[in-house]
Amino acid sequence: MSAATMVVGTDRDRVDGRLKVTGTATYPIDVNLPELAHAVLVQSTVSSGRIGRVVVDAAERAPGVLSVVSHVNAPPLARAAMTPLGPSPLPPFQTDVVRHYGQHVAMVVAETLEQAQAAAALIEVTYQPGPPVLAFDDPHASSVSSPATPDHVRGDVSKALHAADVKVSETYTTAANTNSPIGLFATVAVWHGDRLSIHDTTQWPHGVRDSLATAFGVDPREIRVLVPFVGGAFGAGLRVWPHVALTALAARITKRPVKLVLTRAQMFTSIGHRPNTVQQVSLGATRDGRLTAIEHVATSSLGMEDELFNPITPGTAESYACPNVSARATQFHLNIPPPTWMRAPGEAEGSFALESAMDELSYALGIDPIELRSRNHATVNPETGLPWSSDALLECYRRGAERFGWSSRNPKPASMRNGHLLVGYGMARAALGAYQPACKAIASIRRDGTAFVRSGATDIGTGTYTVMTMLAADCLGVPVEHVQFGLGDSAMPKAPQEGGSGLTGALGNAVQAACVDLVRAFVDLVKGDPSSPLKGCTMQRITVRDGAIHMTDDPSRFETYVAILTRNNLPQLTIESESAPPGETSSSTMMAQGGRFVPFTAPSTGARAHAGSFAAHFVEVHVDPDLSTVRVARIVSAVDGGRILNTKTARSQIIGGIVGGIGMALFEETVSDRTGRQVNTSLGDYIVAVNADVPEIDVLFVGQPDSMSPVGTKGIGELAITGMAAAIANAVYHATAVRVRSLPISIDKLFERYA
Ligand code: MOS
Repeated sequence: MSAATMVVGTDRDRVDGRLKVTGTATYPIDVNLPELAHAVLVQSTVSSGRIGRVVVDAAERAPGVLSVVSHVNAPPLARAAMTPLGPSPLPPFQTDVVRHYGQHVAMVVAETLEQAQAAAALIEVTYQPGPPVLAFDDPHASSVSSPATPDHVRGDVSKALHAADVKVSETYTTAANTNSPIGLFATVAVWHGDRLSIHDTTQWPHGVRDSLATAFGVDPREIRVLVPFVGGAFGAGLRVWPHVALTALAARITKRPVKLVLTRAQMFTSIGHRPNTVQQVSLGATRDGRLTAIEHVATSSLGMEDELFNPITPGTAESYACPNVSARATQFHLNIPPPTWMRAPGEAEGSFALESAMDELSYALGIDPIELRSRNHATVNPETGLPWSSDALLECYRRGAERFGWSSRNPKPASMRNGHLLVGYGMARAALGAYQPACKAIASIRRDGTAFVRSGATDIGTGTYTVMTMLAADCLGVPVEHVQFGLGDSAMPKAPQEGGSGLTGALGNAVQAACVDLVRAFVDLVKGDPSSPLKGCTMQRITVRDGAIHMTDDPSRFETYVAILTRNNLPQLTIESESAPPGETSSSTMMAQGGRFVPFTAPSTGARAHAGSFAAHFVEVHVDPDLSTVRVARIVSAVDGGRILNTKTARSQIIGGIVGGIGMALFEETVSDRTGRQVNTSLGDYIVAVNADVPEIDVLFVGQPDSMSPVGTKGIGELAITGMAAAIANAVYHATAVRVRSLPISIDKLFERYA
């Protein structure tokens, strides 16, 4: 019999592409409701201290104003977690304490946005400023010691460094970056008695629900969070920010639906940023290029009262086969707008230092950078000694180098030219740790033969709608056009954040489980039914395709889902299922494979190390020797992302990460002045990579489905920004013989060293 036509693994356009390009996808900023009022925020102009007076008379008298709220008159809100990590600062407007520049200190709600803006400008706030803590070396800076951020230490790194034949020891710094999605963060809230309905730019509908339920003291079941389209976030939507509670508060006070849209400047102060880092890396090696010591000590910032887990060095501990490692990260509380997670948080910054240092070591040893990395490849997880659940990193090095043409590289720095321009080839290793939380999904097949599968997850633009539609189609044996996938609604089954590059795995496994269980529910309906041609069937003996269940070895015996529902007089069948983190997967899990169902047995977490994704990046840069301008000329990335559900959207994920990496390497820097005020809070002043900065990008996928995940995927959303800045910096060194250890590699840094 002919095999069913599978869509997973093919190139496929986004199922929501038409909605997006025709402007009919509803982002939070697009939500309008009858009687909608508008909220505008007033922000602190100092970085620490206390609020003195809030003079609101003129604002209250201004046309259209419904309410002016500040800590003076705000009702109490309970302390609620903004992240899954526990303690968070008090909700807004609860005290007169100022923790950072840009903190929300007052809010105006008015009939129109313009009226709210005009009234907000009339509010006078006085402060008793205190001395802000703004630098790591400020004696008043306190460090966070979260149990979630253990140091990774094995062997004796000091002794090994002392004894090493060859050593590299350098300090690297990375700039603060700001997530800067194009879509402005927006919240629209409306209360019906004690029931709250809220549209919000978030990567985490259930988190918003639970956080607001705690803050407002209502039952989480009374809150519905909607976000069918996010509009980008890059990690900024992983927390429940103060303005979200304020919008709900404004709606509660005015008894009106209220909309609050952050301004672009507020996007820099109010939804986090990637913290700046200072990192010392010391590597020791034998003459023949075996690593004997890796020491990586990182310092980064976090907000006052925050406990944000954003460690820089854990990736280092698992990076290379090396017996002596010490990877330590410290975070200091500063009076700055709170940092948050931004694409590959920690890994992006840490990999710049480690992979730059590896490049420096390759020159110190006179060994090719790929050869050096291959010689120190971690064939097992070096922290646990367990074999990886999947690992095609060596293949990434080999196939990426081949595709790039690495062999034509002259190893001598500043030796290659293209006319007037200096040419450099650089490479780096990339890895992103595995993360697969529990997730629920629910699947239905309806009387008209269509399937509806949904989960309270989000699609931040990564293609979640598309790949989950494809996966459900294959698991159920229903044409992809007959599958509708729903997400972005906290009334749907509970899903984790779209974060940590873990959603495709977590949600994919939940969708597969729900679809397999749904097919099983159909099998249960017919297996004892004498009037069904499928009487006596079992999961092991069926194939699903074209909206029907077939006996695999007897093409004459099949029945459509519609016929089964009709005979049983059912409008639909619906099943909810849950995926478990690896190691907690039940042994009876089945997976769908080519329309058939086979048992899936995961290796136990005691036998395998759950591998994240791996990649090797190859970059060619052109540097103008007179102007010190750097142009990325081409990039090849070879990626081990496990099973790839959709080669088109997966490739777009890698390209997006690379573009972010180009920005991080060459342009992006959130600058603060000495009072703690962020100064370049516009997209005219905060420079991101644009089309003119992005060259031809060639992505190739290698590797196999991951053995610990039934759906076989590995996270690729944040993989490509990891290691990319180092690959570019390494190419710049190769072009110029100038090592820039401080991101971004702006013209001034290169010029000053090169001139
Ligand atoms: Mo990512 S920082 O987990 O959106």
